[in-house]
Amino acid sequence: MRPKDIVTDRYLVLGNPVAHSQSPRIHAEFSRATGEDIAYTRLLVPLDGFAQAVATLRADGFRGANVTVPFKEDAFRCATRLSARATAAGAVNTLRFDPDGTFGDNTDGCGLVTDLRSNLGVPIAGRRVLLVGAGGAARGVLQPLLAENPAGLVIANRTLARAEALAALGGTLVRPSTLEALAGVRFDIVINSTSAGIAGEVPPLPDGLFAAGAMAYDMMYGKGTGADRTAFLAWAQTHGASAGADGLGMLVEQAAEAFFVWRGVRPATAPVLAMLRG
Ligand code: ATR
Repeated sequence: MRPKDIVTDRYLVLGNPVAHSQSPRIHAEFSRATGEDIAYTRLLVPLDGFAQAVATLRADGFRGANVTVPFKEDAFRCATRLSARATAAGAVNTLRFDPDGTFGDNTDGCGLVTDLRSNLGVPIAGRRVLLVGAGGAARGVLQPLLAENPAGLVIANRTLARAEALAALGGTLVRPSTLEALAGVRFDIVINSTSAGIAGEVPPLPDGLFAAGAMAYDMMYGKGTGADRTAFLAWAQTHGASAGADGLGMLVEQAAEAFFVWRGVRPATAPVLAMLRG
């Protein structure tokens, strides 16, 4: 029997939909491996009910939450204190319920960069990077990518105005583009941040994008490799990419960083990634 006054700290993921979320599995593994006594669940939040849900969870004693589609901007507005990276992203994927308020952070960009650099062995420094898409997912990773000092970063989007607006936040290394205008330009790292894959689609990109040895990275994740890989990675493989990776590693890395924000402990990610891939 546990003493009555030892209460397991509770966390959860908030989304709509949320049933598919891998976060409960990932955090259960982190908890087991680190010995941090946490419970982690998921909650389907009504589309117009995010602020109310957060208020209820805080009052109920929850310690924090991960936030997924479509609530990352609601979470940004709910936070009473923001990290620099959440401010830059304009979105929050990690809430920590502190006694004096709600701290909002964004670990998505850190997750992407760590996956590329540490798990995949793809340094960003000095490389030519293409970020396809200019929505919330792209904004979340822009500053962390730039912090790695790429040779240059092009943001290409179906709607040029959105690429221009996002590029304006990035400084002199960043150039906006349409998808068509990429013809004849080559990149070392091509990152798909669009939601096209949800419908099994691939953004209409020109041939010849991949430089020798180039990496294709899809921020979405598929069911696996081979025939089960994402539509973007299947396209990349037949259009000259030397290597490809989906966003499962990013998912695990952003979760590890959120765990650190909550617990001050950094869990190992490789075993969890291997478990999910298995
Ligand atoms: P998220 O938060 O996932 O980034 P979003 O803000 O709705 O979602 O942005 C979706 C991104 O995917 C946008 O860059 C969108 O292009 P537009 O700005 O032109 O709408 C892009 N996108 C979605 N479906 C696409 C498709 N079939 N082809 C190309 N781009 C697509």
